[in-house]
Amino acid sequence: MSRYEIVNHTFDVVVVGAGGAGLRATLGMVEQGLKTACITKVFPTRSHTVAAQGGIAGALANMGPDSWQWHLYDSVKGSDWLGDNDAMEYLAREASRAIYELEHYGVPFSRTANGQIYQRPFGGHTTEFGEGPPVQRTCAAADRTGHAILHTLYGQSLKRKAEFFIEYFALDLIMSPDGACQGVVAWNLEEGTLHKFSANMVVLATGGYGRSYFSATSAHTCTGDGNGLAARAGLSLQDMEFVQFHPTGIYGAGVLITEGARGEGGYLTNSEGERFMERYAPTYKDLASRDVVSRCMTMEIREGRGVGASKDHIHLHLSHIPADVLSERLPGITESAKVFAGVDVTRQPIPVLPTVHYNMGGIPTNYWGEVINPDAGADAIQPGLMSVGEAACASVHGANRLGSNSLTDLVVFGRAAAIRTGQIIQPQQFVEPGDAKAVETIIERFDTMRHANGSTPTAHIRLQMQKVMQEYAAVFRSEETLAKGVKEMIELTKTLKDVKVTDRSMIWNSDLMETLELANLMISSLATVSSAHARKESRGAHAHEDYPERDDVNWRKHSLVKVDEHTFKINYRPVHDTLLVPQEDGGMDPSIIAPKKRVY
Ligand code: FUM
Repeated sequence: MSRYEIVNHTFDVVVVGAGGAGLRATLGMVEQGLKTACITKVFPTRSHTVAAQGGIAGALANMGPDSWQWHLYDSVKGSDWLGDNDAMEYLAREASRAIYELEHYGVPFSRTANGQIYQRPFGGHTTEFGEGPPVQRTCAAADRTGHAILHTLYGQSLKRKAEFFIEYFALDLIMSPDGACQGVVAWNLEEGTLHKFSANMVVLATGGYGRSYFSATSAHTCTGDGNGLAARAGLSLQDMEFVQFHPTGIYGAGVLITEGARGEGGYLTNSEGERFMERYAPTYKDLASRDVVSRCMTMEIREGRGVGASKDHIHLHLSHIPADVLSERLPGITESAKVFAGVDVTRQPIPVLPTVHYNMGGIPTNYWGEVINPDAGADAIQPGLMSVGEAACASVHGANRLGSNSLTDLVVFGRAAAIRTGQIIQPQQFVEPGDAKAVETIIERFDTMRHANGSTPTAHIRLQMQKVMQEYAAVFRSEETLAKGVKEMIELTKTLKDVKVTDRSMIWNSDLMETLELANLMISSLATVSSAHARKESRGAHAHEDYPERDDVNWRKHSLVKVDEHTFKINYRPVHDTLLVPQEDGGMDPSIIAPKKRVY
């Protein structure tokens, strides 16, 4: 395959992805003197973190009493007892520190009257271990918090001389014959060249795969590229059946209306003008967790109480909120509602519908971001490879993530990965160039895709896939829909062999790039439906109509799935029940977070 010239690079660390997690990891790595490359398919400040609106959770207690223990309890309950307790404890304990670091890096948080970071209520965040009123725990920069964080982290990374390779698309991981990750091969979209990055540590921070679905709040770039890279390297993906539907995507457009809108006092109504959440979640109402609110909205619509001509959506009301609060705290969604729904929020409700928003599942890691390879043992570490952010499954969100715990996850675990890498990698001890055969195989696959001359355009297969996922792996699932979903996804995956790429060029060939992205999406899609079909219970975002109860005896375990083209293999690993700090050493009483019925 020598007709491709390869440009060689050598680094201590290569981070793939420049969203919040990728940038926080990159910044942490260079702060420790590690020669670090960050390769990203989009300009860093265009990464999907830029779209995160409502805020970042951490028990700063600026607006009233709060504690990391309450945050931990809420996250455990939010996860429907599928999260790993050690990872969740790490997140809750480290959140405040990570947020103050962001403040010191320069994130322009909104402020209280006395100059502290402003915090708003978000779904599922409570006081007194779920017995008290909602807490104001979500730190916000108006409703553009992700934007503020992303720009700050990029600036800080540049200041510390991280090397950015922008508009480079990662093709595959370079794996040594004995199974260690030694780098990554990437395609420079602008120049049309291929690059081999050798490194002692590769960090996958490639985000989620919302674009497996037809309607998603995710950017079109959210194609689960890290999942694809990991699966092709023979690694398992974890808990892929848990796909979060955000309750308030704008009807039709799918654009996000932040949960902060309900945090600031917004509420939902059905066609009878009823605030129906009071019936389903009498205590926390519209601020119940997302999976609960999305299910309730779907039930209202199914039972004929949806709004609009087709009775197929719900209304979100903000018009009772003072105009100055709307313009100070929610300027972005005020504009989005105008542009995408033609609605003036000071006078009219916003039409909304649960929309795919987040992937709880991903590449299994421990709370340092080290990838787990369960083939080598339940918690065995995959040498040379880390993953952070939405691409990863730490597992800190379990079966359902609480709103605003995602930005926390990005910066807490991006930072943790850098700390851990500093402990295990010696700077400037560069890895020997990876196995030549491994690189050849990657380039062969790229070349085959580039010259694919079948009969089905990429966009056609992608649309089919998105429709299958939307229909068969939705808010509610059943034995019948999931079985159909698995069957149809297997057939669709086979059609990739018949894909037609019309553009053969190497420079900004978006046809080829979308085909490579589709191959990645297909892996995540098949992993999702197959894991969902296998899980015979309801938990968090996985609402199974034939198994409506949570079954801790048989199913409190992480799903693992290995996808190889159109085949898959499912396995399981135990949930981590142990907390980081044992009670006898001053840690929290584990009985407080023991599994129980989840009501809001
Ligand atoms: O509703 C929102 O602002 C989304 C936040 C999140 O997904 O964490």
